[in-house]
Amino acid sequence: MKREDIEKVISELEALKVKTAAEVEEARVRFLGKKGEITALFEEFRTVDKDAKREFGAPLNELKKAAMAKIEELRESIVEIAAETVREDLSMPGYPLSLGSRHPVSIVRQEIVDIFRKFGYDVAEGPEIEDDYHVFEALNFPPNHPARDMQDTFFVSAGHPNPLLLRTHTSSVQVRTMETQKVPIRVVCPGRVFRNEAISARAHCIFHQVEGLYIDEGVTFADLKQAILLFAREMFGPETQIRMRPSFFPFTEPSAEVDVSCNICHGKGCNICKGTGWLEIMGCGMVDPNVLEASGIDSTKYSGFAFGMGIERIAMLKWQVNDLRHYFENDLRFLREFSTAVEV
Ligand code: DAH
Repeated sequence: MKREDIEKVISELEALKVKTAAEVEEARVRFLGKKGEITALFEEFRTVDKDAKREFGAPLNELKKAAMAKIEELRESIVEIAAETVREDLSMPGYPLSLGSRHPVSIVRQEIVDIFRKFGYDVAEGPEIEDDYHVFEALNFPPNHPARDMQDTFFVSAGHPNPLLLRTHTSSVQVRTMETQKVPIRVVCPGRVFRNEAISARAHCIFHQVEGLYIDEGVTFADLKQAILLFAREMFGPETQIRMRPSFFPFTEPSAEVDVSCNICHGKGCNICKGTGWLEIMGCGMVDPNVLEASGIDSTKYSGFAFGMGIERIAMLKWQVNDLRHYFENDLRFLREFSTAVEV
């Protein structure tokens, strides 16, 4: 037995290169198998004299340990390569990922806007911090008229002839649209509105509305009724009926409140429609000539209709969520009800 025999095996081990698991196994057999090079050295070691035993015992054991470690290292490198291959294999099935979800208010806003887009309406937007003129005065609320109390207002700067305030309805966007666009006008105006209300299941200081406005020559109440009927059937189903009850808004004359037939009990009476068979969904009316004139539209030539609805109200009817606060608390257990898991 010679030192060179051991050194030769060490350099062979060092030079070892493998690409596959089968080659690792081949290398193990070549060095450590029954007829392997290292096994052969151990067999030879049994036959040598005492001095040689003392000389070669430790290096031989070292060699065996090193060989086992090397084989293990090679085996792991193969597993890593395999993992990388898996990552790059685009034909492998995907992992399901849960995505964030759209807020129920956005879902319903989009649905409402999409329905009116189909009817040829454009989308218009305006500022949330508005002035008194656009929220009240141009909409025929006379100065200091108690009608302003209908909508408890958050003022940003009071004591000014035209104070800044948080808009209480999206009807302000009607005014901005009439100021900037030429007739014919056909718009829906989705947005957030603010009212100084105590928060409860039925009222909130923030909510969302979609306003609608249609102005042209010869627009009548029959057009208004038809537009709302078509909308209601798209939104709540083809069997839906509507009814209009006389109402009052400073900016429309005549004005009406619109109910849709209850899509839950189909008119039989349930706790959602409180036994009436009808659900209130919006206010509407023919644009008051004063409102047209305030924004420079000739009321002797043109007429129009307007309507406004609460998005949360429609969402509540759609999903039978009867506490408004759910829409603003951002409780993930609630929001996840509207999420979808997708395969990517
Ligand atoms: N602005 C009203 C509100 O906030 C809703 C409304 C009613 C809008 C009648 C209209 C309308 O355009 O014609 O309660």
